[in-house]
Amino acid sequence: MKNDRVSIRSNQKTPGTQNDLASTANRRSFIKKTLAAAGAASVSAVPLAAQTSNGQLTPGDAAILRFLAAAEILETDFWVQYNELGGIPDSEVPGGSGNPAYTEALSNLDEDFPQYVHDNTDDEFTHQNFLNAYLMSKGAAPVNLEPFRTLPGSTATGSSGKLRLTNLMQLTLDTSWYTRYRSSTQNPDLNPNFVFPQAVPGLHSGQFTAIPRTDADLSPAAHLQAIANTAAFHMPTIEQGGNSLYPSLAQRVTNVEVLRILLSIGPTETCHFQIWHDKAGAAVSSPLAPLTDPTNGLTFPDLNSPPFGGEDFQTNLIMPEPCPFLSNSLPPCSIIRPTQTEGAAMGAVNFLTAMGLFIGQSPAFFRLLQDLARAADNARRLF
Ligand SMILES: [Fe+2]
Repeated sequence: MKNDRVSIRSNQKTPGTQNDLASTANRRSFIKKTLAAAGAASVSAVPLAAQTSNGQLTPGDAAILRFLAAAEILETDFWVQYNELGGIPDSEVPGGSGNPAYTEALSNLDEDFPQYVHDNTDDEFTHQNFLNAYLMSKGAAPVNLEPFRTLPGSTATGSSGKLRLTNLMQLTLDTSWYTRYRSSTQNPDLNPNFVFPQAVPGLHSGQFTAIPRTDADLSPAAHLQAIANTAAFHMPTIEQGGNSLYPSLAQRVTNVEVLRILLSIGPTETCHFQIWHDKAGAAVSSPLAPLTDPTNGLTFPDLNSPPFGGEDFQTNLIMPEPCPFLSNSLPPCSIIRPTQTEGAAMGAVNFLTAMGLFIGQSPAFFRLLQDLARAADNARRLF
């Protein structure tokens, strides 16, 4: 790459000839006219030369990184709760001592489930730490949500008992991502009004815990399995959001290094989504499904059997089905969706809030999160 850059530079014309001077003058005149046409206000709002000088971040790039840092801190917080009870607490991901019954219920979905929980938690720690460290390395303010660590978490065996930022015990899950990624005809970016069917309608109406709240949740077995199944749907529901958020915000980034950060972290969210998508499938297929929680009626159907099945529900169809992209006149394409950038950060906040992930948080918490999202959504790619 270095050689390419040198050769490109060496091929550039050196100004000096009459023609060069004339074309430079014409170009300047064109730029002057274009900027004048764009209006004085927008010209003053775009100090082109200053944006990446001195290694500083543009305000927009800093705002995007700060919003993502906040999102990663919140992700880390709930993944830690999962790891304490159903993962592998160790020196990489400290805290808690494991809950054998809950871990076994998760392992019914995949014997490697605890390892995946551990690794996902480890990843989120590094995303959170990297983004804040990068902000500080550029002289920009990092994000600190510690003042909002006020929520009581699980008191079940294995929990560290520490205060939390997020609430895993009153979740209402929008499971329509499941059919969105199986649809070959619909893309929310092209048809935002289309309603994708829920994979588990019960999770979308009511509030359910994804972790044992106390040891009373460890029985009966069908209740504990329903809690594990709720976790198995919550995990991909979250990760598919990150999967869309990074490419959506990348379209607003100015600095190529910041773009590189978004393009490098975003796909790990996709790796997570893909794994959890498969585990969710295990919760809605034989031999575990159908299953009804005897304490609250929450039902996980068998999505491979009538009236389900087919391309919209079959549980092993976990790779994105090709769908319309950019225009219905272009051929279908296997893609992450949605990736529309307008209001993407606030959309993520609203999605997480509607999920119940922040139930119990203070008005100041929501104000801060919305301010961070608004600033990220106001970022514009400058050049
Ligand atoms: Fe992450």
